[in-house]
Amino acid sequence: MDLFHIQGGRPLSGTVTVSGSKNAALPMLAATLLTAEPCILENVPRLSDISSMIEILEFLGAEVTWLAEETLEVQCKQISSLAPYELVRRMRASICVLGPLVGRLRQAKVSLPGGCVFGQRPIDLHLKGLVKLGCQWHMEGGYMVVDAEKLRGGAVFLGGPQGSTVTGSTNIITAAVMAEGVTRIECAACEPEVVDLCHMLVAMGAHIDGIGSSILTIRGVPSLHGCRHRIIPDRIEAGTWLMAAPLTGGTLTVQGACIEHLGAVLDRLDEAGVTLEVLDAQTIRSKRSPQGLKTIQATTFPYPGFPTDLQAQLTTLLTAAQGISIITERIYHQRFMHVPELQRMGADVRIEGSSAIVHGGRPLCGAPVMSSDLRASVSLVLAALAAQGESFVQRIYHLDRGYAFLDLKLQAMGAQIQRLDASVLKM
Ligand code: EPU
Repeated sequence: MDLFHIQGGRPLSGTVTVSGSKNAALPMLAATLLTAEPCILENVPRLSDISSMIEILEFLGAEVTWLAEETLEVQCKQISSLAPYELVRRMRASICVLGPLVGRLRQAKVSLPGGCVFGQRPIDLHLKGLVKLGCQWHMEGGYMVVDAEKLRGGAVFLGGPQGSTVTGSTNIITAAVMAEGVTRIECAACEPEVVDLCHMLVAMGAHIDGIGSSILTIRGVPSLHGCRHRIIPDRIEAGTWLMAAPLTGGTLTVQGACIEHLGAVLDRLDEAGVTLEVLDAQTIRSKRSPQGLKTIQATTFPYPGFPTDLQAQLTTLLTAAQGISIITERIYHQRFMHVPELQRMGADVRIEGSSAIVHGGRPLCGAPVMSSDLRASVSLVLAALAAQGESFVQRIYHLDRGYAFLDLKLQAMGAQIQRLDASVLKM
């Protein structure tokens, strides 16, 4: 198992290019199951989550070929409906195959993905939506077995206690595009990743009205065709870099981003004393303002609100702002696994209910720390880069799931970061 050895205290500077969006790519790869024709996806990030999804598609019968470094061709001529536990348990996003399988085959047998470190992650809304489209489902040996004699359009409301559901929306959309008749989805997720999926489906011949809004009207078609589609940039990776610069006292130019997707992030960072200079629609420069970082309050919300996937990174950033900041988590109330590890690095952060109270201004010091999930892990890498001394960030397979070439990108920005075998810690 690998770890990162980081020698902190060096400002990051230079230019970094954002990779394609993981959370857009995953449901899009799954959507290739909807047609027997080849689909070509460009800007596919090279991540272990992508490899996991490819393995599931191949198990289901897909032929998958890398045409170039980030261009993937998937052809699903003949597919089966079983997604097994051994593959699905690696990644919760495997659930994204459910809608396309139901859309194409009218049946699916997909393992439940299993536990999640940041609390409950139910799929009741996915199933409720499929039932509205005429499906029946039951559990059998840890598998969700879904089938529909007739898949027909219906009225689906996808609001839950924490707002809409991102992968639930992608599942209902991918089933509805091939249902008979019209589906109206209310409270659909508006995340750019869902919008990008809709654009891909339209390129495949689907009829979707209201793209980008929370009400979608989908007129089902009997078949879809192949397409070529370029995946949007990863807004969470972009936001991570925008915080890395002011945290370490450097200046970073983040290119290949989509600034339009970063409204709430730019708003909070501006308030927190980050100087942001938009150079064009894809490029933005970030550094600490001359007055230094300031305390803020931030709350995570569904898009266009501040994303939960940047909450951990913001917590690390605010450890460098003198005074008390409050970050409230409205999507996953228990998503604070990074906090005890940040405390080990000297941060003064405590959890109160679903808020992190950050008493910033104390310098961080390097330490061995443990990754627990993707975003918690990257917040520890940021902390280690800002800290005095050396840190060992362990279990970095979490980072390889969602950040392409993280160590190489950071080295190019001037970071002292090395990937080592975890056995070095035992010496
Ligand atoms: N929820 C329900 N019922 C459901 C589904 C969700 O109550 O049937 C609740 C969840 O418990 C949560 C909220 O609704 O409180 C939102 O969950 P959502 O379903 O939107 O999450 P997801 O689709 O499982 C995606 C991303 C996550 C990201 C969330 C929220 C992908 C592959 N995953 O998950 O990304 O945190 O949306 O934006 O798109 C990550 O990339 O690190 C990551 C965890």
